[in-house]
Amino acid sequence: AALASFSDRLLAWFDVHGRHDLPWQHPRTPYRVWLSEIMLQQTQVATVIPYFERFLQRFPDVASLAAAPVDDVLALWAGLGYYARARNLHRCAQAVVNAHGGEFPRDIEALQALPGIGRSTAGAILSQAHGDRHAILDGNVRRVLSRHAAIEGWPGAPGVQKQLWTVSESLLPQVRMADYTQAIMDLGASVCSTRKPACALCPLTQDCGARIAGRTAQIPGAKPK
Ligand code: ADE
Repeated sequence: AALASFSDRLLAWFDVHGRHDLPWQHPRTPYRVWLSEIMLQQTQVATVIPYFERFLQRFPDVASLAAAPVDDVLALWAGLGYYARARNLHRCAQAVVNAHGGEFPRDIEALQALPGIGRSTAGAILSQAHGDRHAILDGNVRRVLSRHAAIEGWPGAPGVQKQLWTVSESLLPQVRMADYTQAIMDLGASVCSTRKPACALCPLTQDCGARIAGRTAQIPGAKPK
């Protein structure tokens, strides 16, 4: 039988093995997804969850966050690290209130122009909150895609980065975008690990270029010295 598409295989894997119970998934509002994505930029899911819950208790919506003194935001952030994220979070909330009428913009360019939101975070927010068809490319997804497309080189290099964005865009499904975004992050965080990828458990193994070439230990490439 013909091989199912990349996204169909990934979504079928997600239905069985993916994370369906993350607090920002129920409900998936733009504010909750944005808050989670900023917290998850440099911090693991298990660490983020209690912070996410405390933030929502204290700041139930973007207006309450925007109106708070920045020191209150920093105090609640204490322990998560990378405090520039907290300052940008507060500035972003103020920009949403003051320049966008209190609603996160659905236009990806406008969203990316806000403090703390890069291209991948913008795609993650719009795909998860609205099901819009945008690619992401965070650290886990870079590893999955560079291996699957057998793209050699360090993913931080501009030329490699550009190729990876093209691949990421080319694989998007026409349906279930929120689940797809979560699925590819979950696969990268579990099966397609840096050190010991579990290729036998991977729904993408049949046409994974790195696996076929025996180069999963070399791809993605390390940062040149
Ligand atoms: N890293 C960034 N966003 C994430 C998400 N929604 N789930 C798990 N890890 C993530």
